[in-house]
Amino acid sequence: MNCIKIFDTTLRDGEQSPGCSMNLKEKLEIAHVLEKMRVDIIEAGFPISSPGDFEAVEAVAGMIRDCTVASLARAREKDIDIAWQAVKNARDPRIHLFLATSPLHMQYKLRMTGDEVIACTDHMVRHARKYVDNVEFSCEDATRSDFDFLCRVVQTAVRAGARVINLPDTVGYATPDEMRSLLAEVIARTEGSHRIEFSVHCHNDLGMAVANSLAGVQGGARQIECTINGLGERAGNASLEEVVMAMHTRPDVYGGSITRLDTTQISRASKTVYSVIGQTAPLNKPIVGRNAFLHESGIHQHGILANKRTYEILTPEAVGIHQDTLVLGKHSGRHAFEKRLEELGYDLDPEELNRCFDAFKDLCDKKKTISDADIEALVTHSRVKDIDENDYQLEWYSVHTTNHTKATSTVCLKLGTEKFEAAGLGDGPIDAAFCAIDQIMKPAEHSFELYRINEISQGQDTLGEAHVKITCGNHSFSGRGLSTDIIEGSILAYISAVNHLKAYVRRQADQNH
Ligand code: KIV
Ligand code: ZN
Repeated sequence: MNCIKIFDTTLRDGEQSPGCSMNLKEKLEIAHVLEKMRVDIIEAGFPISSPGDFEAVEAVAGMIRDCTVASLARAREKDIDIAWQAVKNARDPRIHLFLATSPLHMQYKLRMTGDEVIACTDHMVRHARKYVDNVEFSCEDATRSDFDFLCRVVQTAVRAGARVINLPDTVGYATPDEMRSLLAEVIARTEGSHRIEFSVHCHNDLGMAVANSLAGVQGGARQIECTINGLGERAGNASLEEVVMAMHTRPDVYGGSITRLDTTQISRASKTVYSVIGQTAPLNKPIVGRNAFLHESGIHQHGILANKRTYEILTPEAVGIHQDTLVLGKHSGRHAFEKRLEELGYDLDPEELNRCFDAFKDLCDKKKTISDADIEALVTHSRVKDIDENDYQLEWYSVHTTNHTKATSTVCLKLGTEKFEAAGLGDGPIDAAFCAIDQIMKPAEHSFELYRINEISQGQDTLGEAHVKITCGNHSFSGRGLSTDIIEGSILAYISAVNHLKAYVRRQADQNH
């Protein structure tokens, strides 16, 4: 049996792709879900890239107990020092350093000769090893590198003390056959390879990231780097849920490879990540799309009724999708709510539980039945809710809208114990409400990057999740709002985004003093 480690890079490679930036609370929420799902390694960020990334790696390192936490660095002393500063308090910290090995990258990006790359590999791996044993070295653009040169770099990194060697398909160029033989041949060529874990990290430019990662496993890789929902640069990285479920479903092909992952957490992890970035899964997305387990045609339904295995190679339950039967409603008490949370695998602290129960009771007044999807959304929102003393909260709002005049809105917000009211005029009720909010909160000038509403469950009274992302300078700030009323959801999302923008401005001001 082969144990394959799952290295999740949603918070680093995933987060660095356009439209996927996350704030600290959101990163912590995702890290929490990843730990619960039992990934082996969480790559929490690239600390030298920004103070926000540093802070996130430090916070994830301080919170996570049951996974290795990796911190990314280029092969430069300063990067490595800062990566270590950020991750050093993790229970099991890893420094992950990378250096390009392909002729194109060496000549045009690094402007380094092959010998310089070898010397740098040796020096930087040794530098990282001064801090920690758990050092991973990645040969960026490995799949377009000269094979003999790649092997020299790998051997140098191994001799200098790297414990994990990663061979990334950085630009999604390789094919499965190539990936399998690359791994097998590099491993065969490396002295001391039995002491090293080889890893794959595949991008999806030609739609082969999952196939390539699995082929890497067949070639001898024992770690797969991947992201929830396949988020990542350009066309994304290999999707965690697909690589894991492929190995789970076809142990005959993947040499009985197993992971320690709790696959029943996959659906929740996917929803959490989509919710954070304000998207939903494409309907036909493998494993996590809404249609992934639906059987529409008569022939398929007939087969499924006779024996599920006719058209089902894995069960929805295996990835944590349960028949959305139930459920709870107005008459369900705290006990029933707590029991359902427990069945769904939540383990909330008393304060979180109180917040979620209050939100559940409010929702029962607006919606007849509360589904599992509603409960999951309530928990996710209560975890990322603004509860800082400097954050504005919605007290009440009203809107007046017609199809022949401008809309008007009055909004009342609370800051601590103080209340503020303002009125706004706009092209619709949401524009009018946002205008009123601006008058109260007076945010720095910004533009809208995203405004979207996603349905959580189905039916007329479904909960809607509004997502607002605003941009100020080079920074994006997002907010989410959950409500059965899309105007209220939008207002909550906008207030939250502006709270984040104001918190950032305050932090900047503090740093300048
Ligand atoms: O795609 C890539 O090569 C990377 C490295 C930093 C591992 O993301
Ligand atoms: Zn990458």
